[in-house]
Amino acid sequence: MKYVLFSGATGDLGRCCIEELVKLGGWTVFAGGTNQAKLAALGELDNVIPLTLDVTSDESVDKAYETVRSHTYKLDAVVNFAGIHTFTSMVEGDCVKEIEKMLNVNVMGMVRVNKRFFEMVRIGRGRIVNCSSESGWMTPQPFNGPYTMTKYAVEAYNDSLRRELMFLNIPVVKLQPGSFKTQLTEKIYRDFDRAIETTNYFRKILTTMKPMMTMELELDHDPKKLARKLISALTAKHPRTKYKVCTGKLLMTLELLPDKAVDLAYKAIVR
Ligand SMILES: NC(=O)c1ccc[n+]([C@@H]2O[C@H](COP(=O)([O-])OP(=O)(O)OC[C@H]3O[C@@H](n4cnc5c(N)ncnc54)[C@H](OP(=O)(O)O)[C@@H]3O)[C@@H](O)[C@H]2O)c1
Repeated sequence: MKYVLFSGATGDLGRCCIEELVKLGGWTVFAGGTNQAKLAALGELDNVIPLTLDVTSDESVDKAYETVRSHTYKLDAVVNFAGIHTFTSMVEGDCVKEIEKMLNVNVMGMVRVNKRFFEMVRIGRGRIVNCSSESGWMTPQPFNGPYTMTKYAVEAYNDSLRRELMFLNIPVVKLQPGSFKTQLTEKIYRDFDRAIETTNYFRKILTTMKPMMTMELELDHDPKKLARKLISALTAKHPRTKYKVCTGKLLMTLELLPDKAVDLAYKAIVR
């Protein structure tokens, strides 16, 4: 039997990946999250052991470790899905607090979990998978800056960890998903509307840009596609360093243009 720990197991992407993984057979999943109702629902699945895991709390990570340790001495993989998104300006409102909070969950959460469970992964000759995003490598869209900052940091963290742990033959892999309809993306609509209501500087700009900025969120990609990539990352003898999935075509096209041309295009749209 192989053992894997997930953070963010209660999220829409995490749950879908866990469902597909246990269907394969041969895996026991420690499913971490904070939402107790969703944890209980995960506990209904075969070979899934739900556990409370708040990635912002050392105490919670330690408790989760003790639970996992009571079942197994080794892990074959750790998968980090825990993440939040706040759509906010970089200069208005409570942006400092919001950015700190997002960095704490999206980046430091990963650092805490991987550090705590590292020895079990080493003993299991396992691997680590970190969920980044297409936002982790694309030039930021306006007003998506804070989330992009966290995912760029995830990329740097992941690649640094890979180049450290390669000396111990522990693969470290990043997932770079495009857009999937989940609770996280649903929240972006609400944040967008709140930003329009509360901004002092960008009301007209945000209102004009909204259809374009949310176009990507309308794409209804099947999360099973992500699950298949994750399963490759977990089972391939020699996993890739990164797995892109459902990358947004429009955003990808913008990446091919010079930065200043894209800046001008954004300005032209709101003029
Ligand atoms: N959806 C997309 O389009 C998309 C695209 C690219 C990358 N991603 C990334 O994919 C990952 C999963 O996102 P999702 O779309 O599935 O979002 P989601 O449905 O909102 O799930 C988010 C998950 O993060 C967990 N989480 C939040 N704060 C936490 C904390 N302090 N401690 C532990 N867990 C915490 C939530 O657990 P609880 O609710 O139980 O606390 C939940 O399991 C995120 O890292 C996200 O950045 C998503």
